Amino acid sequence: MFEDYGNLKYFLVPAIIVGTIKLTILGLSTVSLIADFLLPATNYTKYGSKKGAWALVTGSSDGLGLEFSKQLAAKGFNIVLASRTQSKLEALATEINEKYGVETKIVAVDVTKPGADEEIFTAIKSLPVAVLVNNVGRSHSIPVPFAETDLEELEGIITINTTFTLKLTRLVVPVINDTAAKLKVKGLIVTMGSFGGLLPTPYLAVYSGSKAFLQNWSVSLAAELPNVDVEFVLSYLVTSSMSKIKRTSFMIPNPKNFVKATLSKLGRRNGAQERFATTTPYWSHALMHFGIDQTVGVYSKVANSLNYSMHKDIRRRALRKAERQKKAL
Ligand SMILES: NC(=O)c1ccc[n+]([C@@H]2O[C@H](COP(=O)([O-])OP(=O)(O)OC[C@H]3O[C@@H](n4cnc5c(N)ncnc54)[C@H](OP(=O)(O)O)[C@@H]3O)[C@@H](O)[C@H]2O)c1
Repeated sequence: MFEDYGNLKYFLVPAIIVGTIKLTILGLSTVSLIADFLLPATNYTKYGSKKGAWALVTGSSDGLGLEFSKQLAAKGFNIVLASRTQSKLEALATEINEKYGVETKIVAVDVTKPGADEEIFTAIKSLPVAVLVNNVGRSHSIPVPFAETDLEELEGIITINTTFTLKLTRLVVPVINDTAAKLKVKGLIVTMGSFGGLLPTPYLAVYSGSKAFLQNWSVSLAAELPNVDVEFVLSYLVTSSMSKIKRTSFMIPNPKNFVKATLSKLGRRNGAQERFATTTPYWSHALMHFGIDQTVGVYSKVANSLNYSMHKDIRRRALRKAERQKKAL
C-alpha cells in the first residue's frame, strides 16, 4: 500500500503544480478582464484629438464605420470618410460638420478597383492624419461550402479585407508617423476583426481566413511601430447590413453601442486576455471569447463542430427564405 502511495506521488505532485499554475493564470486573467472594464475610458488627446489631427475611416457610410466616424468626430478629430456611395458620404459629412464642428473630407471610391489605395492616399497625404480605422470589410452573402464559393465573392472578400487594407495601411503609416512627430502625439491604427476569424468558421471559410490573416498581420505591425498604437478589434455579431440582423439582443448590440464600447476601452484586451494588441470590447462578446478560450479553446474540434452546425443551419434557412421570395414573385 505504501509502495502504491509512493508511485502515486509521482503523478500527484506534478498534477498539483500544473493545476495550481493553471488556476493562478485563470485567476489573474479574470482579475485583468474585470479591471479592463472598470478602468477609466481611453483619452484621445494622446492621439491628437482637438489638436487638429485627422482620422481616416474606411467603409464609413454605414454600420460600424459610420459610428466610428461620428464618435471620433465627437472626440474632436477631423474625419476623412471613404466608401463607395457619394450621396451617403455627403449627407454624413454635413451631419458631422454641423453636429461636431470638425472638418471632413470625402473620398467616394470602390476599394476593389485597382489604385483605390492610391486614390485615398492622394486625398489624405497633405493632412495631419493620426488615426486610421481599417473598417471596410465584406463577408459571404450567405454561408456556403468553400468549394461552391462564387469566384467573384471569393476575390471580393480577399481584396477588400486583406489586399486593400494592407496596401492602404502601407501608404498611410508614413503619414501617421509624420503627424505623430509634428503634433507630438501618438498614432493609432484600428483594424476590424471578427469572431468569424477568431474561430475557424466552416461555410464562411474565406471570410474566416481573411480575418485570421488580419489578426496576425495587425499584431505583427503593433511591434514594428513604436509611435503608433495598433489595435485589432474582435466582434461577434452586430446589427448591420452585413450581418443582415436588425434586432438587438444582449449578444448582438447595434453599431452605436459596439463602437462606444470599442473606443472607450481601446488599448485594453477585455475578452481577448490571451492576445497582444487585440481587444474584444463589447461585454457579452468579451465573456464569450474569454469563456471559449478558458475551456475548449478557439481551435478545438468542439468549437469547430458547433460553429459548423450553426452555419449549416443559417445556410438552410437562408436558402429556404430565398426560395419563398422567388415563389412570391
Ligand atoms: N456586423 C457584424 O456583425 C460584424 C461582426 C464582426 C466584424 N464585423 C466587421 O466590421 C466591419 C464593418 O462591418 P459592418 O457590419 O458595419 O458593414 P456594413 O454595415 O455592411 O457597412 C459596410 C461599409 O463599407 C462600405 N463598402 C462596402 N463595400 C465597399 C467597397 N467595395 N468599396 C468601398 N466601400 C465599401 C459600405 O458603403 P458603400 O456601400 O456606400 O460603399 C459601408 O459604408 C467589417 O470589417 C466586418 O467584417 C462586422
